[in-house]
Amino acid sequence: MKHLILFGAPGSGKGTQSALIAETYQLKHLSTGDMLRAEIAKQSQLGQLADSYISQGLLLPDDIIIDLLKNTLQQLNEDTKGIILDGFPRTVAQAIALNSLVAELNQEILMLIEITVKTPELIERLVQRGKLLGRSDDNPATIQHRLEVYHQQTEPVIDFYRQAGKYNHVDGNGTIEQIFDRICLILDPLVAINV
Ligand code: AP5
Ligand code: MG
Repeated sequence: MKHLILFGAPGSGKGTQSALIAETYQLKHLSTGDMLRAEIAKQSQLGQLADSYISQGLLLPDDIIIDLLKNTLQQLNEDTKGIILDGFPRTVAQAIALNSLVAELNQEILMLIEITVKTPELIERLVQRGKLLGRSDDNPATIQHRLEVYHQQTEPVIDFYRQAGKYNHVDGNGTIEQIFDRICLILDPLVAINV
């Protein structure tokens, strides 16, 4: 089983593009943010904890999020071709844990693809979504904080995959379709090798 990581700042289009990738390449889309928001909706214990972090734009503690992912990877159906990871790993500690976990389960990380988008465009997209959908972290102050957390805690993950020879990136400015075409240019040859 081979997994892809879609990586990028808040608002870079990870969720949007992951859904298209999942459909086109028959991968399972796994968004840690969506999983946590589902727990919040259920008002579970994890949801209550997640709510306090998410609404402040802070990352949940690594051990909690690693456990969540571990349970999910362990329970994968054997028919699953692979996963598109959206929002994980978000710290170097998470990347290290993911490496051990996939090795244990005889799975593999094929590649990390970073979507790069200019900051004013990121802010604009998130502010617009905040007005439309009212996500608790889509207000100007929390958006600013999420971007700082991204630069400080998440961006170092890029070097981890660069050093492993598993890093790639696409320009995330443009229409959703244009960006998806750029991602397909990277994925099509990989799929041809790995079928
Ligand atoms: P998460 O849910 O992962 O949020 P995020 O990384 O902040 O990113 P977003 O979901 O806001 O953006 P996206 O890149 O998916 O873009 P999207 O496609 O939606 O995490 C939320 C929180 O959960 C974290 O802050 C943390 O608290 C916690 N968490 C999650 N994972 C964790 C982890 N591993 N460790 C610890 N804590 C964790 O697009 C954004 C908007 O732009 C949409 O409205 C979309 O329609 C629009 N759009 C997309 N593409 C385009 C385009 N090309 N042109 C114009 N608009 C576009
Ligand atoms: Mg998302």
